[in-house]
Amino acid sequence: MIRGCPLIPILCFASETVAPPRAGIPPGPSWLEKAVFYQVYPQSYYDSNGDGIGDLPGITAKLDYISSVGCNAIWINPIFVSPFGDAGYDVADFYKVAPRYGTNEDLKNLCVEAHKRGIHVCLDLVAGHTSIMNEWFQQSALDHANSYSNWYIWTPAVEHLTGSQPFPGEHLRSERYLPNFFPFQPALNYGYAQPDPKEPWQLPTTDPACIAVREELKKIMKFWLDLGADGFRVDLAASLIRNDPDHHVIGALWRYYRAWSDLEYPEAVLISEWSDPAVAIPAGFHIDSLLQFGELYRILLGPESRLDGKAREPHAFFERAGGGDIRAFVDDYLRHYTITKTRGYISIPTGNHDTPRPTWGRNEQDVRAIFAMLLTMPGIPFIYYGDEIGMKFLPEVPNKEGGTLRGTIGEVRRCGSRTPMQWSKEKNAGFSTAPAEKLYLPIDPSESRPDVASEEKDPASFLNFTRALLKLRREQPALANAADFEPLYAEKNGYPLVYLRIAGSERIVISVNPAERPYVVALKDVIKAKPLLVQDAAFLEGRFEMGPVSFGIFKVES
Ligand code: NOJ
Ligand code: CA
Repeated sequence: MIRGCPLIPILCFASETVAPPRAGIPPGPSWLEKAVFYQVYPQSYYDSNGDGIGDLPGITAKLDYISSVGCNAIWINPIFVSPFGDAGYDVADFYKVAPRYGTNEDLKNLCVEAHKRGIHVCLDLVAGHTSIMNEWFQQSALDHANSYSNWYIWTPAVEHLTGSQPFPGEHLRSERYLPNFFPFQPALNYGYAQPDPKEPWQLPTTDPACIAVREELKKIMKFWLDLGADGFRVDLAASLIRNDPDHHVIGALWRYYRAWSDLEYPEAVLISEWSDPAVAIPAGFHIDSLLQFGELYRILLGPESRLDGKAREPHAFFERAGGGDIRAFVDDYLRHYTITKTRGYISIPTGNHDTPRPTWGRNEQDVRAIFAMLLTMPGIPFIYYGDEIGMKFLPEVPNKEGGTLRGTIGEVRRCGSRTPMQWSKEKNAGFSTAPAEKLYLPIDPSESRPDVASEEKDPASFLNFTRALLKLRREQPALANAADFEPLYAEKNGYPLVYLRIAGSERIVISVNPAERPYVVALKDVIKAKPLLVQDAAFLEGRFEMGPVSFGIFKVES
């Protein structure tokens, strides 16, 4: 048993088996050193059979395109049997592909075709909860004891614990269950780190039911890895253990899974939805993302309140008003980076299915500056489908499958980022041959909406800009995922941000000015550098001259 983790000896023992880092490169599959992910929201990617909903054969048909963007890994949002109350994050059967997406065989085929093209395939592992329609929950809710009774967290009805939900009906138990997100997503019971002895329904992580849940998750991972998947993005990864203030026990739990996957599936990757790399990566994840609910994302791209489409936040770094505090970002980023750089990768995604697209309230020049930074930072880039062609956030589209959240910050209209991919100028933007009213969500109605086919033909398009950035990332050792990072100029409330990426003797200097004011910055250590990709920026004898909303990527020559 090790210090700080006395409650689950079996997990603590496993935590010590994680492989040690190799010379500056994080441990784990070597393909991560060059990985660039592309996130596919399957409902909206490509509909191969004309029923109006994207599907797995549709993704397979577009693998060459994904590869042409410069991506070599995909993460697909949940594709399992579900009543789709939360777009598939309410899983009813973890072992079966939802018929609307195809079959398990279709997924196998997708993996085979992806691997032929050097693309790795990651699935979404909804580890913390299920749908109320899941058979495990249906059994657990029965008023007689059975092997699933404690797979969920049931509290005495008299307690009416905050957030707990009744599940009334004949032959059903009288207690309430704890949900994890929406009320129809009951939390799986991995146990309490510090159960309250006065509340006997709070089970320790060593309870046989909690161990059974823990092992079931491993079984699910094994099932899909054996079928051909290359890893998982883990939904709400920090949520599994209750009453665990220092994350000791959740850390031990994930290190247990990581030790197992290192041994049995050393090429598999674990990606967390946590937004706290300094905690998530030591907890065993290979990659953790900075997301909209985290402070770092907020300083860079704006707070979650932007999601309601009303409030504009002038204090993010990527705002033309130029009121952001990049020093605060860099300080906290460096803290995460220093702790994690030899152990795993930080990701700053271009967007995802929960956030507005980067084009929201911005023009193309603004978004190019964002991409210039995100695709030259250390760690692993994640491009959300459609962001590479500049698709718009469409908050006015109808609420579908739990897309709209109502909370303290107002309405969060997630469907605005979930509309069908725009492939061409053909019917339904080439997404589907179904009648328009049968589409999963409506297509962007704008006549000037971007599409892949048009951008393919235009060398100056956003798509080709994204490709150029990823080509640089591939070709320049100093831009590799694990190459070093050193900020050169990051002043409190100042612009631009200037940083170096370093691999051996190779150095690349990047300057990003999202503000509408021009700036000049003199650097001490860099005298000569040649441009690789610029937008209204010059580097002359140690000075960056940055136009309004500009960026410069330069190779250092002395
Ligand atoms: C995070 C997912 O990204 C989001 O879409 C989902 O609604 C919640 N987790 C609940 O699973
Ligand atoms: Ca379909």
